[in-house]
Order: sequence, then structure tokens, then C-alpha cells
Amino acid sequence: MTGMALAPRAGAQYARILGIGAYRPSRVVTNDEICEHIDSSDEWIRERTGIITRHFADEDESVVDMAAAAAEKALAAAGISADQLDAVVVCTVTHLLQTPSAAAELAFKLGAGTPAAFDISAACAGFSYGLAIAQDLIRGGSATRVLLVGVEKLSDITDPTDRGTAFIFGDGAGAAVIGPSDTPAIGPVVWGSDGAQTEAIIQDVTWRVFRNGATHKFPSLRMNGQQVFRWAVYEIAKVAREALDSAGIGADDLDVFIPHQANMRITDAMIKQLGLPESVVVARDIAETGNTSAASIPLAMGRMLEEGQIKSGDLALLIGFGAGLVYSAQVVVVP
Ligand code: COA
Repeated sequence: MTGMALAPRAGAQYARILGIGAYRPSRVVTNDEICEHIDSSDEWIRERTGIITRHFADEDESVVDMAAAAAEKALAAAGISADQLDAVVVCTVTHLLQTPSAAAELAFKLGAGTPAAFDISAACAGFSYGLAIAQDLIRGGSATRVLLVGVEKLSDITDPTDRGTAFIFGDGAGAAVIGPSDTPAIGPVVWGSDGAQTEAIIQDVTWRVFRNGATHKFPSLRMNGQQVFRWAVYEIAKVAREALDSAGIGADDLDVFIPHQANMRITDAMIKQLGLPESVVVARDIAETGNTSAASIPLAMGRMLEEGQIKSGDLALLIGFGAGLVYSAQVVVVP
């Protein structure tokens, strides 16, 4: 039969973050420990990146284990039980199983029943990408409550002897529960990619090359630090500005700035480019957590809430950027 209309499904008018949870592995790794494998110094790493320590997961602690620890805290903060979730979304580039997804395993581990479950590969923009998708799932009616986790075990794919990356990365997980809202609480996303710059941050060899035995060195990340730095400061600051404009607010209306914790100097340069007033509280979790890619924004937000630096109802600008190159930003109401 032609011309028959399919039944539509309407979702909530708006979505919001209901709760945040953060998990950092117990092992703290100092710059001095990193410098046992590269020609560098505690002073150089602090000056160039702002990183003092980072956390590394144990050998047998998986991405799913860390995600579950953060997720349980986010569910408790949101007052939601795992079996009320309709979708579980994991943002990661370090789940070292090609398939199945970390999300399906996580959903089962949490006792979430049979929610939709999938992973997102958007590197350091993962959490912001995921937030946009979660909000659209809820507004489109495909889900009512979504668990979104950014999680990375970057120590698994970092070469401890590579002077260009060994000092930057850390491990951890940050989770958010997202649900319906009566008022707008997640602003429009401004996102995109620049595939012409894939080489800027990239796994050095493919799994195929590794499999064929052309190298016995486990694949690991390589980064052109200066290229990434320039791109982040000159191109990505504009994206943050667009996210403010799209949300209909100015820099003066903002309470909190939570950029991806890539590098303290990038954060400082962005603050200048955006002309953020001093009243805006800025996430500086990188000092003790390093760069945890998709986990960095929820980890930073979790710490700021725990330490009372920010409060429920504050307006926060989030921006993620990284390998792809990809970027994503939006303004959110702090849960
Ligand atoms: N330890 C000590 N010295 C180092 C070093 C290290 N690990 N790596 C490089 N150097 C030295 C270089 O040899 C060079 O010395 P020279 O001036 O005597 O020749 C000097 O430091 C500058 O090297 P350069 O490569 O220009 O470093 P940089 O100032 O660009 O700093 C980064 C390197 C990685 C810290 C910086 O490029 C950066 O922060 N980039 C952004 C990376 C990022 O945020 N990535 C995450 C995106 S998700």
C-alpha cells in the first residue's frame, strides 16, 4: 500500500545532564617516573603542558571496569537505577577489542537490562559528540534516559619512550546520565572535522601491519604537537565562540569553561581568544589527571562539582578537540 504514514514517535522537548560521575585509577604517575623513559624533565613537562601527575590503570583494569566505576557514581548522582537506562553510549579510542563494543559489555556489567548500546570514536571530542547524540536521542524519542561515558586507557597505546607523547596522556573515566528536561539545558552543538589533518594525531601503524609482522612494536599514538597546538588555539577557539552564539549567550553570561584537558597552555590561549571574564571558573584538572581524551571533560566537571568550584544551575561551555581532527562544543547547565 502506498502513501501510508508511519506512526511518528515524539520525544521530550529538551534534555539535560542529570548527574556526573568520575573515576581515576589509584596509581599516580609523576613526571619523574615518565622521565625514566624519555629525555625530559619534571620542569619541562610542567611548563609546556601544566601536567604534574596523571593516573595509570592497572594492567588488568579494563576500559569497561573504569567506565562502570564512573557510571555507578553518575547513576547515584542522578538518582536513576541502571535498569531505567534506554541507551548506553561509550566514547573511547582505547577499547582494544575491535568488536563487540565497550558499551554492550558495560550495560551488562551495570545490570542495565537490554538498552541500546554503542561506542563512539571521536577521540578527545568524544564526550561532546556523545552529548549531542544523547540529546537528539531523547528529543527524537528514541530514548528517555541515556548513560554517556568518556573513558580511556591511553597508557595501553602510548609509547613510554616517545618524547612527543609519553608525558601527555593518562587514564580515567567520566560519566553522565542524560534525561528529559522542561527547560533547555544542553545548547546546540557546533561540531565538525578536518580530515586533511588526520596525520596530526594518529596510531603509528595499522593492526594489519602489526598482524603481518612488519613490526613487533605494539601500535601506539604519534602526535605533531606544534600542529595540534596551532590548530587548537587559532581554529578551535572560534568554534567555542560559535557555541556561545548558538546558545544565545555571551562570554559574560558564562559561569564555567571546561575545555578538553589537552594542555594548560592551550586552555590559557583559548581564554584569551574568547575574552573570558575573570569571573568564569576554568577547569584545570589536567594538572593532576593529564590528558585523558574522551574522559577529560566529565572528569573535570566531576572534580569541580566535588570541590564546590561550581554548582548546579551554572552555565558551562564545553569544547572537545582531537584526533581526526575533530571538534565539538556546546553550552550546558551544570547538573
Ligand atoms: N622533553 C624535553 N624537551 C623536549 C621534549 C620533551 N618531551 N620534546 C621536545 N623537547 C624540546 C625540543 O627538542 C625542542 O628543543 P630545542 O628548542 O632545543 O630544539 C623544544 O623542546 C621545543 O620542541 P617542540 O616540539 O617545539 O615542543 P613544543 O613547545 O611544541 O611542546 C608539546 C611540545 C607537545 C608540549 C606542544 O606542542 C603541545 O602542547 N602541543 C599540543 C598537544 C596536545 O595538546 N595534544 C593533545 C590534543 S588532544
